[in-house]
Amino acid sequence: MSGKEPLDQELARALALALEAERLFGIEELPRGPLVAAPAEPAIEPEAEPARPEPAATPSASVAREGAAPVALAELADRIAACRDCRLAETRCRTVPGQGAAPARLMFVGEAPGADEDQSGLAFVGRAGQLLGKMIQAMGLEREQVFIANILKCRPPENRRPQPDEVGACFHHLLDQIDLVNPELICALGATAAGNLLERQDGIGRLRGRVFDFQGRKLVATYHPSYLLREPAKKREAWEDLKLVMRLLGLEAPPAPDRRA
Ligand code: URA
Repeated sequence: MSGKEPLDQELARALALALEAERLFGIEELPRGPLVAAPAEPAIEPEAEPARPEPAATPSASVAREGAAPVALAELADRIAACRDCRLAETRCRTVPGQGAAPARLMFVGEAPGADEDQSGLAFVGRAGQLLGKMIQAMGLEREQVFIANILKCRPPENRRPQPDEVGACFHHLLDQIDLVNPELICALGATAAGNLLERQDGIGRLRGRVFDFQGRKLVATYHPSYLLREPAKKREAWEDLKLVMRLLGLEAPPAPDRRA
């Protein structure tokens, strides 16, 4: 075996990943830097979370892992459907609790439902949701293998930013979901999700690409898919964030695409 082989393998792996991301996730060009996979990184320690009160005791993770989570999530969805704790109850068509696997190792959290979600009652089904689906596929996963939710469960009129009192009224639903889904890692999509989960005001550009601690779970922030639709050049950084998520979860790189077709 020549000493060059590991480097060749790393090149092939990096190229396969880049091609797969390009095909599935719409990254327009291959990386410009050396196509060598980053050297093995030291264990990534989450950054410390600012002190906050402990959440109320919830059913143990082992119960969730034994199949109780879907039932409890359905009950939670009923509570959300009945919720009138903020003004968004007046204008919503449907509540959008979120959906996916439970328990799940990976949970995505976005901002708030848009028009398509408000009509369907499902999170991330519009254009941004389609891009999120491609991002998940580029990681070698299916949407059904992760849980997808939002900070708010009701659409703000005209898709305006969630207001602090709306987030304050709604946040406990998300905390309950996180307990039930029991993810190892939360991927926060955009500044609203990351900022509210981490209680930080920083822009997403400063929060992305880092590993935070959220109540004992890892949290990685990346750009919101709606932003990526407007700024496709940022997909490269988003893909770096998703690869960080994959490394943290010990996920295999997706298989090389078949270029013969
Ligand atoms: N944007 C979000 O943040 N969430 C959705 O569900 C859809 C669009």
